[in-house]
Amino acid sequence: MTDEKLAVVVLAAGQGTRMKSATPKLLHPLAGAPMIAHVLATARELDAAYVVAVVRHERDRVAEAILAEYPDAIIVDQDEVPGTGRAVEQAVAALPDDFDGDVLVLNGDVPLLNAGTLHGFLARHRDATAAASVLSAVYDDATGYGRIVRTAEGALDRIVEQKDATSEELALQEANAGVYAFGVQELRDQLANLTTDNAQGEKYLTDMIALLRRAGSEVSAVPVSEPWLVAGVNDRAQLSEAALRLNALIIRGWQLNGVTVQDPASTWIDLKARIAPDVTILPGSHIQGATVIEAGAVIGPDTTLLDCEVGAGATVKRTDATLSAIGPGASVGPFSYLRPGTALGADGKIGTFVETKNATIGEGSKVPHLSYVGDATIGEGANIGAGSIFANYDGVNKHHSEIGSHVRTGSHGVFVAPIRIGDGAYTGAGTVVRKDVPAGALAVNVAPQRNLPGWVQEHRPGSAAAEAAEAATPAATDDETDAG
Ligand code: UD1
Ligand code: CA
Repeated sequence: MTDEKLAVVVLAAGQGTRMKSATPKLLHPLAGAPMIAHVLATARELDAAYVVAVVRHERDRVAEAILAEYPDAIIVDQDEVPGTGRAVEQAVAALPDDFDGDVLVLNGDVPLLNAGTLHGFLARHRDATAAASVLSAVYDDATGYGRIVRTAEGALDRIVEQKDATSEELALQEANAGVYAFGVQELRDQLANLTTDNAQGEKYLTDMIALLRRAGSEVSAVPVSEPWLVAGVNDRAQLSEAALRLNALIIRGWQLNGVTVQDPASTWIDLKARIAPDVTILPGSHIQGATVIEAGAVIGPDTTLLDCEVGAGATVKRTDATLSAIGPGASVGPFSYLRPGTALGADGKIGTFVETKNATIGEGSKVPHLSYVGDATIGEGANIGAGSIFANYDGVNKHHSEIGSHVRTGSHGVFVAPIRIGDGAYTGAGTVVRKDVPAGALAVNVAPQRNLPGWVQEHRPGSAAAEAAEAATPAATDDETDAG
């Protein structure tokens, strides 16, 4: 049920300079989703009446990602005045005048925060009837974060930013997590009083604490249970730490659901993947995007699946597959490359050093060795010989090949598309199939073989080959001479 008294503001306008990236910081992915999507997914669970996202740097790209995850978000453009305080000032101005609840502010670069923590934080804020609450975290070394400064009695006094802190303040271990709850009225009253009079020349949202206290309002800082929940991502080292933590949580979740993950340290599973119980995932595997894996399948080692479907009991070993469907009981790999549009039927096989693209391979059909299958439909129970190439590209256009059910193609065949091979047909080894083959026919077009006897001894005299040939060639015997 919608919490009519709650507005969530997500701060997403910053430059993310410390990432040193052409990609906006908040679009860097974690577990297959942009950082900002994680924050919005958490916001969704709070059922707020309004979600406002503030953008500026790369505003179109960031706004697009925000709306993709949360279509109802109100996008607010921050003006040229920098700072988190200015961002919130403009977000609050976008709320309806009659909104009189709480404003929960989330930094867009704090992606691991979960809704449970926020529910607890909000409940405490509301119980205490404080004008402002901030979530804090205690670190051994809080370098980079704003520090929580408390009074002698232990009450929240103010927040000082890293760049404005004295050496004594820098030694403080309690940091501002970048998560705040404010009464909207108090925010509206005091936001206009923020100044840019600080080391960074920005309107700091964190200065609201001192302003509110001076105005006689109550403020409090609530420590979070585990600091990693509120770890901020400012550079790529922090990005990989957050990704590692999230991955460990995701894997543990699947393990507790009955999935065997032999080596969590070398396995990466995206948030959107779905994995049935009794799936086994072997080391070095990456389960990406919206991949779905059914019961009993064995994935890996060293397999990457992006947006794939893997049927029950299938095995996929040392394989790279994208947008492909692998049927139940099918076998893929080792060393297979499945490109988009591959559909392998139940109990089918795509084997070693086989590349497929836009290929439907029917139930029980096999492409076991060293082949390329592109733009093809193969019926059921067919066997494609080792070293087969589907020549789908004439240099300008792509064409389709259709191979019937129970076809047997010889090794080293080339199928020059467009081509049709009827049910039950065979092709000989080394055949370049350029014309359709009717059902049940054998197609052969290799030139008859000629042997030139003694050619090696004559043209390569004294070579090892010539000597071996000489030794292997039976000398004419007397008996034979007599008989002749
Ligand atoms: C901020 C806090 C700091 C806290 C830390 C927690 C301030 C002044 N400091 O510092 O006390 O410990 O987060 O992670 O708030 N943003 C805007 N508009 C801006 C600037 C930033 O929307 O003008 C957004 C950014 O996109 C980001 C968030 O606000 O999502 C935080 O900005 P960032 O520059 O990373 O602040 P920190 O230096 O980490
Ligand atoms: Ca930050």
